Amino acid sequence: MDGFEVIIYEKQNGIAYITLNRPKALNAYNVKMRDELYEILGAIKDDPEVDVVILKGAGEKAFCAGADLTEFLTAPPPVFARQARFERDVWGRFLSVRQPVIAAMHGYVLGSGIEMSLCCDIRLASDDARFGLPEPGLGIIPAAGGSQTLPRTIGQAPALEILLSGRWIDAKEASKVKMINRVLPRPELYPEAERLAKKIQSFDKAAVRAAKQCVWRGLDLPLEEGLDLETRLGKKLKEVHS
Ligand code: COA
Repeated sequence: MDGFEVIIYEKQNGIAYITLNRPKALNAYNVKMRDELYEILGAIKDDPEVDVVILKGAGEKAFCAGADLTEFLTAPPPVFARQARFERDVWGRFLSVRQPVIAAMHGYVLGSGIEMSLCCDIRLASDDARFGLPEPGLGIIPAAGGSQTLPRTIGQAPALEILLSGRWIDAKEASKVKMINRVLPRPELYPEAERLAKKIQSFDKAAVRAAKQCVWRGLDLPLEEGLDLETRLGKKLKEVHS
């Protein structure tokens, strides 16, 4: 697939690479990026040639500096509401991708940048990464699930502090509060994301996808129902293999 303006899409040996590509605007998330991500994630989830996805940002300075402020804060309320709904759809799209998605983040990871990464399965960051949710300081709240996904990922107390105080945290602290899985020296970020992708690729595809579904869908269920889900998906997996 090509013809994208603000993302780059590449596919190599079963690994799909999505690069947020507005380096001059620190890869700020605009309407065009939303549309292109929506399209590519829809294509990836049904693409039998893709085993694992890596999401990253172009340029030296940022994974993503949040929503594009030039579009975001000037939109009239009805447009804003529509945009917020649409953004949630993109986030739904992220969660509907059956293949594991690895976020490989560097530099600024703000607002939507954090929110996007929270919909990925594994989050790696380089040691120069800085994370923040500037929304309340701008008179808005996260519009892309962050108020729900962040506390579910790191717990209520650190999530509330990061959201309410606007304090940015560095990669070391992000790792400590478990917002990310691992911190790497910058030159190691993409090679490690690829090593991880290849490792995952070496496993049974159906088992990997079932395990991903178990965790994500189970998170919203009471334990008993989660255990039922695991049993059902386990049975389905056995049928696939028999
Ligand atoms: N939306 C639109 N453009 C953005 C942007 C955003 N969220 N973040 C950065 N940019 C643009 C800047 O306007 C600038 O454009 P210019 O070169 O045409 O002037 C370019 O990206 C580089 O940013 P700059 O501010 O010069 O880089 P910096 O290293 O000095 O500062 C930040 C980086 C991230 C601290 C600063 O850009 C910033 O605060 N951005 C806004 C973050 C934010 O509030 N995001 C919204 C979350 S809801």
